[in-house]
Amino acid sequence: MQVVEGQLFLGGISSAELAERFGTPLFVMEKEVVRERASRLRAAFDHDRVRLFYAGKANPNLRIWQLIGAQGFGIDCCSAGEVYLALRAGFAPGRISFTGTGLAEEEMRYLASTGVLVNVDAISQVERFGRVAPGSRIGIRINPNIGTGSHLSCTTGGSHSKLGIPIDYALDARDAAVRAGATIHALHVHTGSGGLDAGVMLGTARTVFELAERFAETLDCIDLGGGLGIPHEPDERPFELERYARGVLELLEGWNDSHARPLEVFVEPGQYLTCEAGWMLTRVVIVKPTPEGRTFAILDSNFNHYLGAALYKSYHEFHATNRMGAERSRRYDLVGNLCNTGDTFASDRPMPELAEGDLLGMVNAGAYGLSRSSNYNSRPIPPEVLVSEGKATLIRRRQTYEDLLSCQM
Ligand SMILES: Cc1ncc(COP(=O)(O)O)c(C=O)c1O
Repeated sequence: MQVVEGQLFLGGISSAELAERFGTPLFVMEKEVVRERASRLRAAFDHDRVRLFYAGKANPNLRIWQLIGAQGFGIDCCSAGEVYLALRAGFAPGRISFTGTGLAEEEMRYLASTGVLVNVDAISQVERFGRVAPGSRIGIRINPNIGTGSHLSCTTGGSHSKLGIPIDYALDARDAAVRAGATIHALHVHTGSGGLDAGVMLGTARTVFELAERFAETLDCIDLGGGLGIPHEPDERPFELERYARGVLELLEGWNDSHARPLEVFVEPGQYLTCEAGWMLTRVVIVKPTPEGRTFAILDSNFNHYLGAALYKSYHEFHATNRMGAERSRRYDLVGNLCNTGDTFASDRPMPELAEGDLLGMVNAGAYGLSRSSNYNSRPIPPEVLVSEGKATLIRRRQTYEDLLSCQM
């Protein structure tokens, strides 16, 4: 982003022009930011036995996946539908890794037919996958009982979480694989999203490398998941990427120096790659003061477009796009236009004085925004544009009222 005479520019285009051309609400992805994050990750994990994947669930737009694919990343998928999209985006099966939960046999058959790398997350799923795809090589997702994340809902390691095979049962999963005629070639962990403590994530990595000793005869890969957080609140410190990567590479090299069977490490960040590249442009529709002293600014967006703020109070900075850096002299509840009181982006947030029609920009909208969008209240889903060097490309069109009918019989 750039600020020119108090105006917000994205990819070299003024936000006012983008809003005028594509309407609001609008998701804007800055290509250079995605590229910069990709090269930062590549530099940190620069090793011939490390492979990087983008967690496609963060932003399942094929153009975004292709942009990241061109930077050397594969795609990490969590459903058969995502695998279908990744294949359609042109990723070869060997560049697609799958880790999901609750797989029905039909989904397993589809995954097995594609040849993608599959991690399952329950002992019964090991047995079932072995029956569905005899002789298969699979990975197992382990819950290492260590969790990290920006919120309990985003923390996937620990006894409260349904995800992964509890580490105490890991050897039972190995026995189940033998019974089912499958081979466990990968151990996977993802202990949560949005964590900013590289030390905790390294602790998890160490735990998995220790567990790997028990699988050393068949293991080719340790998949460390994603979860590399980015700062949202003003006083948060960035995730120490280089420290984390250095620790992971030490573990990998230590293993490969001391074992006959070398390992690869997979890392599959989502948020880290695209969150900060995305902005949501939205207009103030109503400014509504109350006798108790609150002022609601009702926007033309809502939790259909960005659920995180309502679901687990994720913090997002908002800017008045034509008064960047202006004094924040008033307080507003920035809320959505759904018939639901919980449809709130920010409460009691200092902002410059707002008027109806003002254009606001919400930061960190490039991950888990549109990917969680819905048509609640029969409101169409906004478009997405990719911006770079003064050029804007529509990569997802705005839904129409006709689209609301598309699955109705
Ligand atoms: C298995 C797995 N890998 C990677 C990710 C990506 O997480 P993040 O966007 O926090 O990097 C997730 C997120 O839910 C996940 O479940």
